[in-house]
Amino acid sequence: MTLSDRIQQTRDFILGKIDCENPIGVILGTGLGGFAEEIKIQAEISYSDIPHFPQSTVEGHDGKLIFGSLSGKQVLALKGRFHYYEGYDMKDVVYPIRVMHSLGVKNLILSNASGGVNPSFKVGDIMLINDHINLFPSNPLIGPNDDSLGPRFPDMSEPYSKLFIQKMKAAAESESILLREGVYAGVSGPCFETPAEYKYLRIIGADAVGMSTVPETIAAKHLGMNVAALSVITDLGIEGIVEQVSHEEVQKAANEAEPKMSAIVKSFLSSI
Ligand code: HPA
Repeated sequence: MTLSDRIQQTRDFILGKIDCENPIGVILGTGLGGFAEEIKIQAEISYSDIPHFPQSTVEGHDGKLIFGSLSGKQVLALKGRFHYYEGYDMKDVVYPIRVMHSLGVKNLILSNASGGVNPSFKVGDIMLINDHINLFPSNPLIGPNDDSLGPRFPDMSEPYSKLFIQKMKAAAESESILLREGVYAGVSGPCFETPAEYKYLRIIGADAVGMSTVPETIAAKHLGMNVAALSVITDLGIEGIVEQVSHEEVQKAANEAEPKMSAIVKSFLSSI
């Protein structure tokens, strides 16, 4: 069975449960799952019930698809994502993005937690991702290209929609929330970085580093989608203040920043 056939089966299954028309796609990352409570839910489907969907393995990433409305917009949210470090093939990491596209999603909001390497950042800050650096050892588009999905050599001159960047900034301002902006370096993990690695990431132009999002953005751009991405800074990798970090601390900081992230996304949704 081809990838397109699998995507179609997954789509048909989901369409048997929800009635959607160009919903806005949202991926809820580490500790941001609570955002789902803001959605007026019409249907929830556990990943384990969805044909061909990968299954989540990480604590704090329970997997379900949530369909409903928020700020007057149809929202198709995925609570829990698939990380490369869990052992998934890149094709599985981005499978949900391709399914969202098949369900009519044109506009995608990604969220994640990251380590700040910009020395002006503080734990709990929200950073609007305006560009990325792919440091994963792979790329979801490696292999034969499926021309029905997108081009062999996709353009990446605007990975994060300039219009959405402008609207996210306006949304944060209207909510009086400080919004940082910068470049997200995507790494495989699962180790957090050494002090030398954080220093290297800063030198090559990153403001934050994390273990997700980049493959999803690449797949979304391949499909011609518009992407916006927000990151919660959960720890700092800044020279002189590289402290020990754990998954629990990352989740705690992300949970604490959740109300700010939710407020920005809600206001953004009402503006598009
Ligand atoms: N490094 C990589 N990924 C992360 C970090 C970090 O410091 N914090 C949250 N995700």
